[in-house]
Amino acid sequence: MASSLRASPQGLKTVDQARIRKGWDRQSAAWANAAKASVATLKRFWQKKYIQAQFFLDICAAVGVDWQEIVDSFANEDWDEAPDVPVFYGRTEELATLQQWIVQDRCRVVALLGMGGIGKTALAVRCVEQIKGEFEYFVWRSLTTSHWASTLRHPPSASDLLASLLFFFHQEQDNQATLSKLVDYLRQHRCLVVLDDLDAILDSAGEEYEGYREIIKRLGEERDLPSCLILTSQQKPKEIVLLEGKKLPVRSFLLSGLGEAAHEILNEAELTYKPQQGLELIQMYRGNPLALKIVSQTIKDLFGGSVVEFLRYNTIVLGDIFRDILDLQFQRLSELEKKVMHALVIYQQPIALQQLKEKISSTVSTSEIIEALDSLSRRSLIEISKEQSNVVYTLQPVVMKYVRRVYSQAL
Ligand SMILES: Nc1ncnc2c1ncn2[C@@H]1O[C@H](COP(=O)(O)OP(=O)(O)OP(=O)(O)O)[C@@H](O)[C@H]1O
Ligand SMILES: [Mg+2]
Repeated sequence: MASSLRASPQGLKTVDQARIRKGWDRQSAAWANAAKASVATLKRFWQKKYIQAQFFLDICAAVGVDWQEIVDSFANEDWDEAPDVPVFYGRTEELATLQQWIVQDRCRVVALLGMGGIGKTALAVRCVEQIKGEFEYFVWRSLTTSHWASTLRHPPSASDLLASLLFFFHQEQDNQATLSKLVDYLRQHRCLVVLDDLDAILDSAGEEYEGYREIIKRLGEERDLPSCLILTSQQKPKEIVLLEGKKLPVRSFLLSGLGEAAHEILNEAELTYKPQQGLELIQMYRGNPLALKIVSQTIKDLFGGSVVEFLRYNTIVLGDIFRDILDLQFQRLSELEKKVMHALVIYQQPIALQQLKEKISSTVSTSEIIEALDSLSRRSLIEISKEQSNVVYTLQPVVMKYVRRVYSQAL
């Protein structure tokens, strides 16, 4: 059985008759209670969306129908708890590139990278919707959803993940789920596997990470593999660094801001602005859709929807969700990486390596600072540009604001 199931259109008609006999509404709280599910899950059930298998079974049992008669048995895809993405703007070029890499170039591993809230998960969902028809099987696993919390560790260990994937492919429990078995399957069938939020595991040191490292490495190196693994992550995993290349079957895609399409987010919040002001606002948040959603809401609520009023305050709004994301990213940094961030805040302007070294400490070597900058850049926290012939570094404005606040609170 797949870990998530959905009803077939015909099956829902059977359920509808059964619930009328019970005197229940389609989203009856009594029904949800009897199935130990939320009303939101019941709603998803009616929308023919995938829900966790146990909820599906309990919803059917509560209303007195046999789940096997109403399930959509075309179980060659498993969306797990991938989010719905009902509204999605722009990203046409990004989608075309990913399609080219995965479908035409037959890449085996594609890493979708970028800072928190930039839209990696949303883009992965849209990409899969477009290309899954090219594959025999499709399975989505997010390493940070409640899927794992009920039965397994959170985040899942590599063997939990292997067991879960093989369970989906073989439709039965395999007590000795190994990487070789998974590779065998992925070699015999053209499968698309998405691992969303790899950050959850990249931070857990030691053995846990070793298992994932092996999975990525093995799939990246395996010859003639018709399947593809898509990863989303804020930082670039080291295995990808070692295996990737423009013409190679392992590639990474660094997602930047939304560009022109970001205006749609401002319009959705019914903000009023002149073109230049809209651009200024978008640029301030580097087109980050999550940050723009948050600030648009603030402008709507506190500034009557006027972008110019907001810009007059010359401030950057972080919002709780975005701050949580940055908190998490910041906690994951090494002490030296934090020092580099702090130095960039103090300096404010883009700064060259030599000046940065002077600001930090004479006891830290240049190579250590380069490593720290590399790591920060892989996490999309710093911006690198050229001034005359010098390479200079600075923080993204939102990150600058955040770090400044962290250090002012610490004083
Ligand atoms: N192209 C887009 N159009 C409209 N909304 C978008 C777009 N991309 C992302 N969003 C919205 O922005 C928010 C953040 O997107 P998403 O969760 O995909 O970011 P992420 O990069 O996966 O972040 P994280 O690193 O925290 O997982 C979501 O509410 C999402 O729906
Ligand atoms: Mg995500």
